[in-house]
Amino acid sequence: MKDLRFRKMVKADLPVITKIESDCQSHPWTLLQFLDGFNAGHEGWVACKDYEHRELIVGFAIFSSVLDESTLLNICVRPAFQKQGYGRAILDRLLEQARSENIESIFLEVRISNSSAIRLYESIGFEKIAERRDYYPAIIGREDGLVYSLKSIPDAP
Ligand SMILES: CC(C)(COP(=O)(O)OP(=O)(O)OC[C@H]1O[C@@H](n2cnc3c(N)ncnc32)[C@H](O)[C@@H]1OP(=O)(O)O)[C@@H](O)C(=O)NCCC(=O)NCCS
Repeated sequence: MKDLRFRKMVKADLPVITKIESDCQSHPWTLLQFLDGFNAGHEGWVACKDYEHRELIVGFAIFSSVLDESTLLNICVRPAFQKQGYGRAILDRLLEQARSENIESIFLEVRISNSSAIRLYESIGFEKIAERRDYYPAIIGREDGLVYSLKSIPDAP
């Protein structure tokens, strides 16, 4: 995508990441949760653009890898930038990384109501492998979670 750059997430990004998260999610991760994950070895990428001569983080992804398996823990695009291809571009970047690290499969969990994310994952080739009843807190009560996996990383476009 034009003007879009990726770089590794660093601790100093976490306040901005937390703000983007809270603008996007009904039950957002807190700064402390991001920090704990970071300290536990979660990795992250930020997608940036230049905006008024400064770097603007438009979205991010956080994942954790063990041997040849990776789990996508979080992906988020600033609301004003959604539906313009940034989410797909971030996932493409993760797939590129997975290919270079010989990752064989990627897992993720998603709320059953999150149709835009589900559509994005399925368009890449993720397949539903399990349902987790009442897995997530919801605005009222609880909500089911779906577990998806990508069993083989597609070749580079
Ligand atoms: C899910 C999310 C990352 C997608 O990012 P995005 O930049 O809006 O997505 P893109 O513009 O790259 O769209 C990619 C695909 O997603 C799907 N999609 C995106 N927004 C959609 C919407 N509102 N309705 C239906 N499908 C949608 C489409 O299949 C789209 O395919 P296309 O490129 O052929 O049109 C973004 O909506 C987001 O940050 N949501 C809040 C956080 C979240 O729910 N994260 C996922 C947690 S599991």
